[in-house]
Amino acid sequence: MPILSARMSLLGTESAFEVLARAGALQRQGRNIINLGIGQPDFPTPPHIVEAGRKALADGHHGYTVANGILPLREAVAADLHRRHGITVSPERVLVVPGGKVTMFFAIMMFGEAGAEIIYPNPGFPIYESAIRFSGATPIAMPLHEEKGFSFSADEVLGLITPRTRLLIVNSPANPTGGTVSRGEFDRLVAGLARHPQVAVMSDEIYGEMVYGAAHTSLATYPELADRLILLDGWSKTYAMTGWRLGYGVWPEALYPHAERLAINCHSCVNAAAQYAGLAALTGPREPSQRMVGAFAERRAYIVPALNALPGVRCVNPGGAFYAFPNIRGTGFSSLALQSRLLEEAGVATIAGTSFGAFGEGYLRISYAASLPALAEAISRMDALLSGRNIG
Ligand SMILES: Cc1ncc(COP(=O)(O)O)c(C=O)c1O
Repeated sequence: MPILSARMSLLGTESAFEVLARAGALQRQGRNIINLGIGQPDFPTPPHIVEAGRKALADGHHGYTVANGILPLREAVAADLHRRHGITVSPERVLVVPGGKVTMFFAIMMFGEAGAEIIYPNPGFPIYESAIRFSGATPIAMPLHEEKGFSFSADEVLGLITPRTRLLIVNSPANPTGGTVSRGEFDRLVAGLARHPQVAVMSDEIYGEMVYGAAHTSLATYPELADRLILLDGWSKTYAMTGWRLGYGVWPEALYPHAERLAINCHSCVNAAAQYAGLAALTGPREPSQRMVGAFAERRAYIVPALNALPGVRCVNPGGAFYAFPNIRGTGFSSLALQSRLLEEAGVATIAGTSFGAFGEGYLRISYAASLPALAEAISRMDALLSGRNIG
């Protein structure tokens, strides 16, 4: 029997993939399942992006590229950050990687070790806590508050910092809550961080272009963080490109060579055709992406009041992403029990809040990346289950 390293027992997972597998198994048995569990746009990649990927293959881009990503793509990322946030970033600080997750993993591996502490949002994207444990560091949960629209409180976060803190992870707009952090809250956080110059910050802004109310605030707009901010972003959500595996990090100059070395040790480079597709995404027409975000806004306007009308459920209006995170305490079910009954009895796949950390108990994540008719049918089935009626 091969002997695993002890480290392997520390690694968690993302239960969205388990729910996806179970929903698939039920579908193969002939059940009609509405999938509100999956965290990806229900839109295809826009055709001009697909065409650029196809053309790259036809043009012979079959070999390795430079490890950090082709220069035109890194230049396009820098131009896009200027368009979106008015900031000037050198392409030399952009590291193109296979998906948003890779920047996260690299940042956590770079700072995590036994004795170190890493602060992460809870409920939050499950890979943060999993990778922190894997690195040997101690995960310190930063609570997000329903009554603050699932933002953190800057004072509370600053109070979690100790001399052992190496990295602080923030995520706005957030998975699983859809919560956004206001500029005022970020101002207070950044001001307080001046007292803790040893703490690096990773800002996961992968949903940054999916906001419905106040404009997105990027931590990259704070010059005082420039030497310790790692910006995580990518193409997966904005351009419906989850399967292409394409993302990027913007790293401080001093950290960049370390991140690049991790890339060379890990994946060499991102597949060439995906990089050309990503270039077309950033330089081509923006309408397809804008239409998609418009559709999410319309669905949010439907789903949030509909969830609030269910017995025992209340739901804050999420400021971004494509998730609602209803409080289900009034139903009398635990998160996991409701996830399971909704899937097995009502044929609606959702994710228990506890999949996103201990502070997710009492909540359910609903991805509204589904058509309005599918959302209406899901709501009607949820209503039947929660009202104790037969599910038709
Ligand atoms: C908050 C957050 N960060 C990062 C990612 C990872 O994105 P990618 O699929 O590009 O690795 C996700 C994906 O669901 C996410 O929700």
